[in-house]
Amino acid sequence: MSRIYNFNAGPAVLPLEVLQTAQAELIDFQNTGMSILESSHRAKAYEAIHEEAIASLRELLGISDDYAVLLLQGGASTQFSMVPMNLLLPGETADYTNSGAWASKAIKEAQKVGAVNVAANCGKDIPTRVPSPAELKLTPGAKYLHVTSNETISGAQWKTFPEVACPLVADMSSDILSRPFDMSKFGLVYAGAQKNLGPSGLTVVIVRKDLAAQAPENLPTMMRYATHIEENSLYNTPPCFSIYILALVLRWVKKQGRDALYRQNAEKAARLYAAIDGSEGWYRGTAVKEFRSDMNVTFRLPTEELEASFVSQATKAGFNGLKGHRSVGGIRASIYNAFPPQGVADLVAFMADFKKANG
Ligand SMILES: Cc1ncc(COP(=O)(O)O)c(C=O)c1O
Repeated sequence: MSRIYNFNAGPAVLPLEVLQTAQAELIDFQNTGMSILESSHRAKAYEAIHEEAIASLRELLGISDDYAVLLLQGGASTQFSMVPMNLLLPGETADYTNSGAWASKAIKEAQKVGAVNVAANCGKDIPTRVPSPAELKLTPGAKYLHVTSNETISGAQWKTFPEVACPLVADMSSDILSRPFDMSKFGLVYAGAQKNLGPSGLTVVIVRKDLAAQAPENLPTMMRYATHIEENSLYNTPPCFSIYILALVLRWVKKQGRDALYRQNAEKAARLYAAIDGSEGWYRGTAVKEFRSDMNVTFRLPTEELEASFVSQATKAGFNGLKGHRSVGGIRASIYNAFPPQGVADLVAFMADFKKANG
């Protein structure tokens, strides 16, 4: 067996232990004589997995009974629409922050639904960053303030969330369960699972029940959070296999210790940024230092030719997925929870060697 170091931004690396359990259970899931892939979503065996995944999310993220935990489909991109459809009522305004590619997509969809105020716009700033709380031009009485907690493409991350009067709504697709946060400040959090939580095909939504209850009655059934709250995310067939993997990933997180994993994430990122900063400007981080992402470490080399050569040699050396997003170029090392510290150490050594050979 040979596993490479997988720096993909999502879908992304999963813990080997999780894959091995899924493999072992694939043909005959817990003596049911069938795979979980073939099970009815109303069967007892699946039901237990469904409940386990929700309970583990509640435990690990500190989610109170005021919130519903939903396991939906359609990706975070569908949440760009569902959030305003459910939360933003006629006569109300929602504040949005533009921090880059993902925030701007969320804004575009919200504008189709209701009144949006862009409270700060640094989406095109170079070096990349998220807004600082002082520059937010908030709407008095805003329904919510939307933030993209981590811009996966640019590698900029909110380090502390703004203190505002209204509930926060966050797209946490690329940093959920990677660091501590206080759920009680948020009205809604959503995340595509395919980075820190599991495979694609599953979107986790955590929503305050009282906010979801305000949604207009005439929303399409599937687009109403209330539908999924009432039916415990079993109104229709859920993405059973993705939820099963989520349950296994969360078991793995508990086994590692959530807080130990959080510390490890900070250490991995610090180690990589130290290598960038210690290169006398040969490697250049693309985000403003105070907003550098602990999940997606983005940097550049002196020329695009060197970047292409870096990616190709790195791939040969067993480091996969380092090419930056096609819209921005450069290098991106995504180092989510399941990415091993040894992979970061080995990349740092590779970077030093590559600089020596080409610098
Ligand atoms: C921060 C962020 N938001 C939203 C999305 C879109 O997610 P999906 O592809 O699940 O719709 C992504 C995908 O990478 C992302 O990184």
